[in-house]
Amino acid sequence: MQAYIFEKFGREKLKMVERPVPEPASDEIVLKMKAVSLNFRDLLMVEGNYNPRMKLPVVPCSDGVGVVSAVGSNVKDWKIGERAMPVFAPGWYDGDPERTHLRGAIGGPADGTLQQYMRLKAVDAVKAPEHLTDEEAATLPCAGLTAWSALVEKGPVKAGEQILALGTGGVSVFALQFGVMFGAEVVITSGSDDKLARAKELGARHCINYKTQPNWEKEVARITRLRGVDHVIEVGGMGTLERSVKSVRPGGSIYLIGVLAGRSAPVDLTPVLMQNIRIQGVVVGHRRAFNEMNRAIELHGMRPVVDRVFSFGEAQAAFDYLRSGSHFGKVCIRVD
Ligand SMILES: NC(=O)c1ccc[n+]([C@@H]2O[C@H](COP(=O)([O-])OP(=O)(O)OC[C@H]3O[C@@H](n4cnc5c(N)ncnc54)[C@H](OP(=O)(O)O)[C@@H]3O)[C@@H](O)[C@H]2O)c1
Repeated sequence: MQAYIFEKFGREKLKMVERPVPEPASDEIVLKMKAVSLNFRDLLMVEGNYNPRMKLPVVPCSDGVGVVSAVGSNVKDWKIGERAMPVFAPGWYDGDPERTHLRGAIGGPADGTLQQYMRLKAVDAVKAPEHLTDEEAATLPCAGLTAWSALVEKGPVKAGEQILALGTGGVSVFALQFGVMFGAEVVITSGSDDKLARAKELGARHCINYKTQPNWEKEVARITRLRGVDHVIEVGGMGTLERSVKSVRPGGSIYLIGVLAGRSAPVDLTPVLMQNIRIQGVVVGHRRAFNEMNRAIELHGMRPVVDRVFSFGEAQAAFDYLRSGSHFGKVCIRVD
């Protein structure tokens, strides 16, 4: 079988290698991978910006879906042919994660989904929603679940509340879709008016271009009549946090998910404590939440937004495309 690995950091160092098709141990299954989706995390990982000391080689990517092609002798819950998605942090099934769970995350440091066959413990896979294409299902384990964990596990968001999502990348577009599903009013930002028009079609109530309105927190204040939103999906990190703090209502929640606009900078924390603001870190999510999210997606017939699909041979081009920031929603790679 063929697998992508990086032995050295750099998008251009990504290479395809030949590996034996894995055999399952008694408690394992093997997935014949059908589709993979890229996360900004995968880009940071491959470029050496996530953990420059990570042991290499590693198979990249944590999002994907496959079909069960082999089952171990003790596995009762999976049948050959069923469609499955790996969990992001093997062993994390509910509650708070342990450090060991996070240290075993797939796509780095553990081998990820960008390979033709993937071996995993049977308990570390969940069933994919039936109505979704392979590419759509491939977006769920990391990007989809992160937005869900913020709004449901850490929120929870209620009908009628206001959500602010920053940008129109994978996590934020999921937050928009879930927000609409829960009956919330979603405000979204983007550096592109075309992307904002697409967000509107998905149900965003208010759209703000952060390039033409760099003081976008003032527009949020206007929209919310100075009250502030209830929830912020914060993917910018230190480059946007201060404006997010100004955008949230007293007692509201900021879900700190990404650091697209910087990891460190001086920030005035006074309004956080003076206004009871909750800044909540979010790391993907556990298996129970993953299954619950999939049930909700199935019930509502929700479809993740796939911007573009690359072939297996075009993995590097797919990473370059993600790096360009031209996408709206998710970038996928078809594996077979
Ligand atoms: N904590 C976790 O568990 C977790 C899980 C997944 C992802 N993440 C992190 O979350 C972040 C987003 O990940 P992703 O996979 O959704 O990324 P992505 O799909 O690559 O999204 C990138 C988009 O973010 C927007 N953006 C960039 N800089 C921005 C800024 N300064 N202000 C507002 N929006 C900005 C841009 O949207 P426009 O083009 O519309 O402007 C850009 O296209 C990354 O930092 C990633 O590492 C964390």
